[in-house]
Amino acid sequence: MISHALRRVELGEVPVATPTGRLIGASGLLLEATGCTLRTGQRCLIETGSDHRPEGTEAPLRDWLAAQVVGFRDQTAYLMPFKKPDGLAAGARVLPVVERTHLMIGPQWLGRIVNGLGEPIDGLGRLGGDLPLNMSPPKVNPLRKRPVDEPLDVGVRAINGLLTLGRGQRVGLMAGSGVGKSVLLGLITRNTVADVVVVGLIGERGREVREFIELSLGEAGLARAVVVVAPADESPLMRLRATELCHSIAAHYRDQGQHVLLLIDSLTRYAMARREVALALGEPPATRGYPPSVFSLLPELVESAGNGEGPGSMSAIYTVLAEGDDQQDPVVDTARAILDGHIVLSRALAERGHYPAIDVAQSISRCMSLVAGRPQQEAARLVKQLMARFEQVRELMPLGAYVPGADPATDRAVALWPRIEAFLHQGTHEGAPMEQTVARLQELLA
Ligand SMILES: Nc1ncnc2c1ncn2[C@@H]1O[C@H](COP(=O)(O)OP(=O)(O)OP(=O)(O)O)[C@@H](O)[C@H]1O
Ligand SMILES: [Mg+2]
Repeated sequence: MISHALRRVELGEVPVATPTGRLIGASGLLLEATGCTLRTGQRCLIETGSDHRPEGTEAPLRDWLAAQVVGFRDQTAYLMPFKKPDGLAAGARVLPVVERTHLMIGPQWLGRIVNGLGEPIDGLGRLGGDLPLNMSPPKVNPLRKRPVDEPLDVGVRAINGLLTLGRGQRVGLMAGSGVGKSVLLGLITRNTVADVVVVGLIGERGREVREFIELSLGEAGLARAVVVVAPADESPLMRLRATELCHSIAAHYRDQGQHVLLLIDSLTRYAMARREVALALGEPPATRGYPPSVFSLLPELVESAGNGEGPGSMSAIYTVLAEGDDQQDPVVDTARAILDGHIVLSRALAERGHYPAIDVAQSISRCMSLVAGRPQQEAARLVKQLMARFEQVRELMPLGAYVPGADPATDRAVALWPRIEAFLHQGTHEGAPMEQTVARLQELLA
């Protein structure tokens, strides 16, 4: 069922003289239409009906299902609906939609929650805005892109201190399920120094959406955020649209000169939605059931994040699910290759109650050398070395097999370990500003 507001706007966009098509097939996610010219990417409305008669009338209830053209063969166009298709019948009318209207955006979008089509779902009425939102922002010439040269303060000690990120950097947050990706994302959302935060909750559990908005964001966090929601029960097309919408919204505010942080939870669900669409269209599966096109479309999406030519910036953090804690998962692998860094969360740390469970040794920020000062980089390198040394003897200690005095560097690592551990631990409601963190990192080694 489509909302009344959408129906009114979209029916207004149906040109009177355009011939309508007919629905000739529906199997799984894919609908087939014929009888009118439809272009790929074009939206259309399909007549649906049910036997339900509104009280006091004779006519069965009619409604319109919004769909998008995803492919064609000969005279048949393949469509995919945005919502669950109910009440479709052979021969149902298919109306092509001429999109004359753009979504209008402005500062009024801050504090609002929308779906993948940009419709408000928070019950707060119409979205204001006086500038058209470009759904496919032009590609930025890589030579004219603003470089990543300023640190991004995310308010997490382990990241600010040892894996410093830069404004305009795109990183992955990789972990198996339930290791703490969403909780860490919440911590980052609340504490990052940015003008605007765009959050995409893509393909995650419906229950978590409310939890994230009420608990992780809170009133203050929501005031500077735009949240785009497409939970797991939405159609794959809606999940794709929602992810792309997040990128367009973030690019819009960036081009207005603002510092924007884009958070996508999760990139894996986006890849899975792409997989569903590609498989339905008959593309053969390759790695782990993912058709090859998924891996060429992921870089395209990620490249649309990052800085533009103007003074604004757009940093992005994508969560990536390592199924079965498998760091060789094809989406994890691709994300690692196309992003400017990855933060790996470890189940072993989470099981020990070490939160945030960031595995510093396995993580890397490819922009740290561009944005962190020399003394900090040196201190971070030393701390990582000490951590590696401590890991070598960690298991020997409870057995009494570690004898101090054999290696002074290891003894130092063991002596400093409680301080290093205290530095890395952080409560979910504790902020850790960059300046304080860097000072504490230097003190740690003093
Ligand atoms: N910083 C933390 N402090 C205390 N507990 C935490 C922390 N981070 C995560 N947890 C615990 O781990 C659980 C799972 O965390 P979270 O939902 O963030 O995992 P996830 O990686 O997003 O999982 P999924 O892959 O299923 O989405 C939380 O419900 C919480 O109990
Ligand atoms: Mg999660």
